[in-house]
Amino acid sequence: MTNPTELLHRRYGVNSFHTDIPWNDCIDTLLSHRSIRAYLSESLPSGTLETLIAAAQSASTSSNLQTWSVVAVESSNRKEKLSQLANNQAHIRQCPLFLVWLADLARLTHIAESRGLPHQGLDYLEMFLMAAIDAALAAQNAVVAAESLGLGTVYIGALRNRPEAVAQVLNLPPHIFAVFGLCVGYADRTIETAIKPRLPQSAVLHRETYQLSEQDEAIALYNQVMKAFYNSQKMNVPGDWTEHSAKRVAFAESLSGRDRLREALRNLGFELR
Ligand SMILES: Cc1cc2nc3c(=O)[nH]c(=O)nc-3n(C[C@H](O)[C@H](O)[C@H](O)COP(=O)(O)O)c2cc1C
Repeated sequence: MTNPTELLHRRYGVNSFHTDIPWNDCIDTLLSHRSIRAYLSESLPSGTLETLIAAAQSASTSSNLQTWSVVAVESSNRKEKLSQLANNQAHIRQCPLFLVWLADLARLTHIAESRGLPHQGLDYLEMFLMAAIDAALAAQNAVVAAESLGLGTVYIGALRNRPEAVAQVLNLPPHIFAVFGLCVGYADRTIETAIKPRLPQSAVLHRETYQLSEQDEAIALYNQVMKAFYNSQKMNVPGDWTEHSAKRVAFAESLSGRDRLREALRNLGFELR
């Protein structure tokens, strides 16, 4: 277990506000998180996939509807195709296991139809959101389980750049949407990865009511922290966090094709009423 003060320091990039806080192995794993983008080809011990899925299925799920599924991709050929659809990210090809997390309304459609029951509720945006939330909660449980086993992971939101093509590669029926991918494998430790600092708690934690303008100080501090972080990692990120975050949302084109998500979802059978 790492020293809590040290981990909090790395998570926020400044000396910790609290040092005397509850701590255990689980919190240690959570606060040690970092995305891994370079993997060894080493395969995962037998039973790992099943353990990750049991952890994922242990997450809460709205009304116990379990409106998510996951496709485990290990074939090099299929990983290559998915990588090409997700901005050519090399770690998708490199990792031994690529999990594609699905918002899955096909199963509910199927069970309702199998009993001759209506399923109009599935046509609403609410049900799509529910399925996407379910998939995200499940995936994050799998991430924590993987990291607790010494594995590395990185989410792949770029899988949403070409949703219909991804659906074809994975043979997805209508009413299923690939929300994101997840690379899983052993980190190539010759490539250093650091814990990426987050916003000060004063920006994200609001007590009783929400305050926006009061966050300015915390954001200014975070800009400094992230500048120092980028320098320490020799990452060439122009401007500060505020600037490049604003650029990320500046125009429809900044969304790498995801500006047509509504149309893609319609094509995949989601009415989103
Ligand atoms: C839903 C989601 C999608 C993401 N998509 C990508 C991606 O396509 N490629 C990538 O390299 N990282 C991706 N990431 C990883 C984030 O960039 C990363 O979590 C963030 O920069 C914080 O860094 P950390 O995870 O190391 O703390 C994604 C993360 C999330 C939660």
